Amino acid sequence: MAHKGFARTDELFARAGRVVPGGIYGHQTPRMLVPGSYPYFFERGQGARVWDVDGNEYVDYMCSYGPIVLGHGNPAVEEAAERQRRKGSCFNGPTPLWVELAEHLVELTPWAAWAGFGKNGSDVCTWAIEIAREHTRRKKIVKAEGAYHGTHSWCTPLPAGTTPEDTANVVSFRYNDLADLGRVLDEHRGDVAGIILTPFRHDAFHDQELPVEGFLAGVRRVADEHGAVLILDDVRAGFRLHLGGSGELFGVRPDLTCYCKALANGYALSACLGRESLRKAAERVFFTGSYFTSGVEMAAALACLKELAVGNGVATMKRMGTMLREGMEAQARSHATLVRSSGPPAIPFLSFVADEGSFERSRVFCTECIQRGVYFHPHHNWFLSAAHTETDIRRTLEATDEAFAAVRRRFGS
Ligand SMILES: Cc1ncc(COP(=O)(O)O)c(C=O)c1O
Repeated sequence: MAHKGFARTDELFARAGRVVPGGIYGHQTPRMLVPGSYPYFFERGQGARVWDVDGNEYVDYMCSYGPIVLGHGNPAVEEAAERQRRKGSCFNGPTPLWVELAEHLVELTPWAAWAGFGKNGSDVCTWAIEIAREHTRRKKIVKAEGAYHGTHSWCTPLPAGTTPEDTANVVSFRYNDLADLGRVLDEHRGDVAGIILTPFRHDAFHDQELPVEGFLAGVRRVADEHGAVLILDDVRAGFRLHLGGSGELFGVRPDLTCYCKALANGYALSACLGRESLRKAAERVFFTGSYFTSGVEMAAALACLKELAVGNGVATMKRMGTMLREGMEAQARSHATLVRSSGPPAIPFLSFVADEGSFERSRVFCTECIQRGVYFHPHHNWFLSAAHTETDIRRTLEATDEAFAAVRRRFGS
């Protein structure tokens, strides 16, 4: 079906610009996409498809930047949420689901003894570094250069509104470089409270990098040697690669882990899980919010995790992601175009070698896909959901074949 354009998106964005700073801010700001070539506002979603406000339908490979792991409007999740909604959600204390969900997460996670809940990934990443500081009575947090852990002032990628003091106790090392981590730990010997890192490198505007052989085991070893708490930020990857946490796939068991995006299939909820040894510190660090105990999101999370397990969602995402990746790689070859696939199949990304980091071809490619009803992102990793089917992938590959041809016409091979 021919693309209907973006008249309503443009009208809404013009109105938003008058009453909202920047119209749409954060990672969903049009500046991060290809301005004028993407829809900015959405009307609805079903399974692996979304519809923008102009009535255009897309196969969705962003899944709301991760939260939609079972597909939009998953019936088991929506029914569980609706059952709780009828009883109420926000009370003077939590519902029994607070306990049930914590028990379920601890059961899923071989090394964890407790779980606490927030609303966003930023909430729990900040809580985790505070728990590490409280436990060790040390100041420094070590993170990978360029890694995103949220918007809070200790880690925001854009310094506007922060002071140098906010990041004075945060030091960086290069992901996948154990020697560099060793250097940082030696430099701050006796002062490092925690090391926070993602299970693989998935920074925006970069190809993704899986951990090289021995890297995560090495991080575990040096964290122990230096008495630092190892925090796995599994906010983006959690529950797409392994239900026990992405560390299980890569063979590392952290001391704290942070979840958010895929936890409740689109309902606002995050969690931090920890080892028994960190329970006392977690009790002491003040952590709360107006909606931290709300029940509807917890009902959704329990249903989401159970549905992922029963339906073998992780395996489906891997299979569909592999079909997509292999299909696109074969097409690139047939168009004599060099591309780089990166990341695990459930969280894939593809870039053009000739772009050399400019993402010029990626922007043309993704714009051509949008015109053909497929929603990819030019400079941020993509996401599969358990609702993607072979029909979706085949439909996608029809669009990508034409998009590769368009890139070739524009740039040559
Ligand atoms: C790895 C990682 N950590 C933390 C965050 C912050 O999560 P939130 O945006 O829910 O605050 C994100 C969000 O994209 C993330 O990808």
